[in-house]
Amino acid sequence: MLLNSKMENNILKDKSIGIFDSGIGGLTVAKEIIKHLPSENIIYLGDTARVPYGTKSKNTVIKYADSNSEFLLSKGIKLLVVACNTASAHAIKSLEEKLSIPVVGVIKPGAKKAVESTQNGNIGVIGTPSTINSGAYQREIKKINPEVKVFSKACPLFVPLAEEGWFDNDIAKSVAVKYLSELKEHKIDTLILGCTHYPILKKTIEKVMGEDVLLIDSAEQISLKVASIINRNGTVKKESSNISKRIYYLTDNSDTFISVANRFLGEDITEVKIVDIV
Ligand code: DGL
Repeated sequence: MLLNSKMENNILKDKSIGIFDSGIGGLTVAKEIIKHLPSENIIYLGDTARVPYGTKSKNTVIKYADSNSEFLLSKGIKLLVVACNTASAHAIKSLEEKLSIPVVGVIKPGAKKAVESTQNGNIGVIGTPSTINSGAYQREIKKINPEVKVFSKACPLFVPLAEEGWFDNDIAKSVAVKYLSELKEHKIDTLILGCTHYPILKKTIEKVMGEDVLLIDSAEQISLKVASIINRNGTVKKESSNISKRIYYLTDNSDTFISVANRFLGEDITEVKIVDIV
């Protein structure tokens, strides 16, 4: 039995970490995982054919999450990162029940970090309409500390701005001012970027919120969690197989993906593969 699980772990070691998002946003998480675990193989799936998820219903998002996970599993992954808040808000439970590999979502790590960081007990959460309406952050935060006040705001236009590569121009700034002024009035001192696309616009959001508001992007927490799971399970990639492979799949051609990804990741993605998973 022990021998079997050792053999299984040896096989798992060289498998990849699978990451999916509705598009480019999950790269904010991939970037941190690559930084903390540079020798791990990564398979990234951006579901550009079906983006945005943030305006879709729970059942639809669960269906998308299922097909994305099946695709990544077919490519040989040892752990799945759901690098999309909308998919994490709706599908994390069902994925955990269905899959036999560890599944890491983005909501819990962000909520935990925000509660640990706030000084005045006023936390803001921004995300897609679907994430905000799900109440997932509110629930997680209240579970940790029921005293904390949570102010939420859906910011749907941030997603197309990030996909377009408009991180810090005048249009991005005006949209941010319009969405965020309400949260400023509530005197929040901590703001959760509850959509993996939003860290791409971090500088603009920072400028609008001011330097007294701490922006929480759960990517770092997620990468630490991934590292601790593969360490604990004994599935860290073997040191002898040092060259890491990173493969990027999209479900539809996206002209901006490579340029935005290279600008944002600071590394050369020269090739993305288009797959039909629907
Ligand atoms: N990046 C995704 C998230 O974190 C959502 C973007 C979208 O597809 O609407 O929720």
